[in-house]
Amino acid sequence: MTLRKRPLGRSGLQASEIGLGAWQLGARWEWSGPGEEESLRIVDEALKLGCTFVDTASPYADGRSEEYLGRALEGRRDQAVICTKFGFWAPGYQEDHSADRIEEAVELSLSRLRTDYLDVLLIHSPPFDLMDGTAVPHYQILQRLVDAGVVRAYGVADRASSADELRRILETTGSSVIETNINALEQGQLDVIAEAAEAGVGVIVRTPLASGWLSGKYDASSRFAGDDRDNWWSEEDIRRRAGAVEEFRTLVPEGLSMAQAALRFVLAQPEISTVIPGAKSVAQLRANVAAAEEPLPAETVDAIRAFGKTNPLR
Ligand SMILES: NC(=O)c1ccc[n+]([C@@H]2O[C@H](COP(=O)([O-])OP(=O)(O)OC[C@H]3O[C@@H](n4cnc5c(N)ncnc54)[C@H](OP(=O)(O)O)[C@@H]3O)[C@@H](O)[C@H]2O)c1
Repeated sequence: MTLRKRPLGRSGLQASEIGLGAWQLGARWEWSGPGEEESLRIVDEALKLGCTFVDTASPYADGRSEEYLGRALEGRRDQAVICTKFGFWAPGYQEDHSADRIEEAVELSLSRLRTDYLDVLLIHSPPFDLMDGTAVPHYQILQRLVDAGVVRAYGVADRASSADELRRILETTGSSVIETNINALEQGQLDVIAEAAEAGVGVIVRTPLASGWLSGKYDASSRFAGDDRDNWWSEEDIRRRAGAVEEFRTLVPEGLSMAQAALRFVLAQPEISTVIPGAKSVAQLRANVAAAEEPLPAETVDAIRAFGKTNPLR
């Protein structure tokens, strides 16, 4: 099976409907992620399976995500559609979204990725005031990079994943691509992405597995020592997530893994161009890509939609 492609809005780019979230590549501290060898294997297998859309960012794994991608894609750059981001800097995720540093960041990404163009450049989780394209020069600079052929499409990866944020981005920035959080537990953005698609904006969906929760392998006693998730959730957050996941489990058709059901739920939304689960191993990548083989039954999609309206996380 090779993955289907969907248009990335009206950007002219096509994205595999399941893409590769590349934050995990080389991310030993953030995700107890794979080292270089396994990272190269993941990218190689992704291309073989037709999973050609790749989402990275310059600070991921202190720059190693982009570096490993560059190595893996050497000599076959044209087989992948690469999305990277500006606004946080390696090492250590230092935040600097200054407009006069965009070109410097692009040069660094091009060098790590061993390429001379970026398919998509997103402003990475900008603060709210940078989402008003009428007030800041960022989007004119991005458009100049598009005109120069260095970047093919630009947009914004939102920060808080709220409807207000996303509407402001759509209305003022000229973005042709946006990236936001959507999964069975966080469905608040579904209405806004319908507006994005209507306007011809490509939609990239991140965290489709709720950062691992929707695989069903965690419960209220889970702790994440050894990776960054240890800092993200209080005991109360973990308890609430565990409860929501147990409810979600009851909606999954027999014989289907929870992770695959979660991915199929996202794919069932026609407004979405690509969904980018992060993979820590070739096995996870293969399982994620296999989710695209069949659609989720319509009644299950409806049941998960109804669950999303009542669940406590959004
Ligand atoms: N602000 C931003 O721009 C931003 C923020 C977040 C993410 N992203 C992008 O979105 C991508 C996806 O989001 P995410 O990685 O944060 O969350 P995610 O895709 O919801 O979860 C990924 C995690 O789920 C687990 N997993 C993946 N496939 C699995 C499978 N088949 N079976 C069981 N477990 C599986 C793995 O962790 P364990 O095995 O350890 O559980 C993996 O690290 C990232 O890689 C990144 O490219 C961007």
